Amino acid sequence: MANVETLIESIPEHVWQVSRRDFIKRLAGGLAAAGILGGSAAASPLQKMAEKTAGMPKIDIGDERFWLSVKDQFILKDGLALMNAANLCPSPYSVMETVFQYTRDEDTDASFFNREKFGRLQEDARSKLAYLLGATADEIAIVRNTSEANNTISSGFVLKEGDEVLLSDLNHPSNNKAWEVKSRRYGYKINYATFAKTPKSIDEIVKAFRDALTPQTRLMTFTHVSNTTGVLMPTKELCALGRERGVFVHVDGAQSFGALKIDLAAMGCDSYSGSAHKWFMGPKEVGILYVRKERQKDVWPSIVSIPWRDDIVGARKYEALGQRDDGAVAAMGKTADFHTAIGPDRVEARMRQVATAIKEGLGKLPGVELTTSMEPALSAGVVIFKPGMLHARKVYERLYSHHLIAGAGMGPNIRLSPHIYNTLGEADRVVAAISEMLKDGV
Ligand SMILES: Cc1ncc(COP(=O)(O)O)c(C=O)c1O
Repeated sequence: MANVETLIESIPEHVWQVSRRDFIKRLAGGLAAAGILGGSAAASPLQKMAEKTAGMPKIDIGDERFWLSVKDQFILKDGLALMNAANLCPSPYSVMETVFQYTRDEDTDASFFNREKFGRLQEDARSKLAYLLGATADEIAIVRNTSEANNTISSGFVLKEGDEVLLSDLNHPSNNKAWEVKSRRYGYKINYATFAKTPKSIDEIVKAFRDALTPQTRLMTFTHVSNTTGVLMPTKELCALGRERGVFVHVDGAQSFGALKIDLAAMGCDSYSGSAHKWFMGPKEVGILYVRKERQKDVWPSIVSIPWRDDIVGARKYEALGQRDDGAVAAMGKTADFHTAIGPDRVEARMRQVATAIKEGLGKLPGVELTTSMEPALSAGVVIFKPGMLHARKVYERLYSHHLIAGAGMGPNIRLSPHIYNTLGEADRVVAAISEMLKDGV
């Protein structure tokens, strides 16, 4: 593990909200305020910081000082514990500024000459995304969101009467309703793989899919992490099963892209979708669609507009969507830089650390029912729980109105989805708030 200085130096200047020098000043200020450094350290440059930190314990994933400085990259409202990454994430300042700057630039000079750079920025972003996801650039399309990416697969994969598609009943409407509506048009049949809300093992999930496959199944699709139960699906095993049966496998990555370290080549899926505005903390209304090179011939584009060319290369054929929000698309590169700088494995570890603290705390409260497993192999950043006999909607509203904790109400359940801008202190706040409501009622 790197110490504070090495870690700061490994983060490129441009990803930080402030200059590295100012950042170090702030960090040193924070340490001084916490009584860890002497007050005079507040204005120290990197050199002095290194001296001061030499005797300090090595930073690890649990070092709150580092994560407080990461939190500082976001313009979150003071005191707000935002735990709604499954729905929408804020962008760090550097990404937000990039969107603003490119938008301003375009509005200042919308000529073809000035806008020419956006093509290059899009390619730059594509390469960085491919690097982060364990794919090649030609396998990545930059689309508008997961819904569009999922629908590109359900519209573009050729199916006829007699064919079958295997869905999971946990899938999001953009991946289940879309298949159902299109089955009415094309006449294929849909089957569902179902398993317990809180499965006990990977085998239990794989068995549900294996049992539901038939010789007519042409495609199967499931969500990597469920937005309704929080289960982390065994993607590698399910992709291997699909391959064994000659079935195309589409993975909905809305709840994993930007949250988990992803290696698509190792996962072995045929396609994967994600939204930049969720865990990736990127620009709004931008998403990704990965289609494995060998499978691109099996998936037709559903929108064909500029900049289509008959010799368009690779997955770019899925993003000829007409005029885009150029500033937002260009900011995908900056967002990828942010993830690369912190490290996707460190992002995942921190996100899991906070989610685990919430689950452990809630699990000790009498009456609270956790739907999401405590097992790392069966869970990720989405935490679903039932607050005992309390009315979930009221609890969810009170969490925000009285405790400034923003989650999501999910029928009888509450969903909390923390990310790297959350602290362990905020995890404690959640547990204390729910404990208080259980005692006092709402
Ligand atoms: C699993 C899953 N898939 C797809 C989506 C749709 O995402 P978007 O609205 O960004 O297209 C969501 C949204 O919450 C989701 O949870």
